[in-house]
Amino acid sequence: MSTVALSLLAIAAASSGVLAQDPSSSALIPLASKHFDWNDLPYQADTDNLVRGTQQGYNRCNSTTEGPDSMCQTATVNHLDDWCLWAPPKPDSTIGDTEGEEVAWCTKKGRGTRLIPGGAITGVQFTRAPGYLQIVGFIDQTKINLQSDDGGGELDPHGADFRGNPLGGLVFSNGFPSNGGKNDTFQQVIEWHNFMGSNSFCFKVCDPSGPNAAALCQHIYDRIGVSYNCPSAAKNGTFEVCDSDNQDPPGIYTDASGAVQTYSQPPESLGVISTLPYQPKVPSSSNCVQYASTALFTDLVAPTSAPTGTAGGASATGKASGSGAAGTASRSGASAGASSTGAASGSNGAAAVRISVVATFAGVLGAVAFLA
Ligand SMILES: *[C@@H]1O[C@H](CO)[C@@H](O)[C@H](O)[C@H]1NC(C)=O
Ligand SMILES: *[C@@H]1O[C@H](CO)[C@@H](O)[C@H](O)[C@H]1NC(C)=O
Ligand SMILES: *[C@@H]1O[C@H](CO)[C@@H](O)[C@H](O)[C@H]1NC(C)=O
Repeated sequence: MSTVALSLLAIAAASSGVLAQDPSSSALIPLASKHFDWNDLPYQADTDNLVRGTQQGYNRCNSTTEGPDSMCQTATVNHLDDWCLWAPPKPDSTIGDTEGEEVAWCTKKGRGTRLIPGGAITGVQFTRAPGYLQIVGFIDQTKINLQSDDGGGELDPHGADFRGNPLGGLVFSNGFPSNGGKNDTFQQVIEWHNFMGSNSFCFKVCDPSGPNAAALCQHIYDRIGVSYNCPSAAKNGTFEVCDSDNQDPPGIYTDASGAVQTYSQPPESLGVISTLPYQPKVPSSSNCVQYASTALFTDLVAPTSAPTGTAGGASATGKASGSGAAGTASRSGASAGASSTGAASGSNGAAAVRISVVATFAGVLGAVAFLA
């Protein structure tokens, strides 16, 4: 975080004057600093209208909004059978092109969101670590509006302009032990990250009362994928819940001489990340309990229009080659490289956007410094 903040500050210094042209920016409160009560959510958490426009959906979600057109941007990560992912509102999208507008796709009815189509989820591991809850899994991502070969990227409540991806996206959980196991009490999750792409995903929510939430849910390693940010033993075809140790915070590793190091992710301008100086360490897990997917996702039904036979099967086969990247979840280096490649095409376009966002953001930062 400090690296990003520093480089942004440098840019801020180089481009003063933006602030004066954008009076609304002085009012911007970073999404990760906004706190809400589950029972009293605003219509939208983000009421700004800056370079990236306005929040696309809403946070107040109910029985009226539930269904395939829901634009609910309040997600929850609770239990093995009860979680959401961020994915695009419209078919055939990429994460890189739509990161600001993703909506919640969930496994349980009753919270005003879209539901993940039945059969899309092909394996998940839900882990309960001291500092976080994490779901890592495998999915036919075309069923949640992603192109079959999208390498994807990271969603988190930060972003260059502090408005989050998606803008205004909120995350809650009733699954932290500090909750006392009360399923009806939702805590807002301040630090979280969700990696989507290559037919796999990770959603980690860091316990807001834990000491290390920001580091465990670090958001600056957006180009090195699930295996480095959420190292796990998840297997395609297996559905299980486990207790787990904390992972090393993303980007932190112990080298061959035993020294603790911090990895610096190179800028996109230097091209695809093909090698990393370390292998991610999978934290040890215990008490794993496996389930049949049919016992878990009882609210999810396959779309009625989908023929069960050859059409679906054929496209699934076609995807298998694209999903080689995700298939290598255990071979993490390759997976990370491949997913950055996929993301690169999507993010070339995003890079141009990012520059202008940073320009405005420079003004925002200036204003924040000013107010502080
Ligand atoms: C349901 O949610 C929508 C979208 O946030 C909102 O416009 C509507 O007022 C809500 N309905 C109720 C009864 O709260
Ligand atoms: C809370 O809900 C989850 C699934 O939704 C369930 O597995 C768990 O047993 C519930 N816990 C309590 C204390 O009711
Ligand atoms: C997971 O397994 C399913 C069923 O065998 C397969 O179709 C899919 O391609 C696999 N997904 C990944 C990401 O390997």
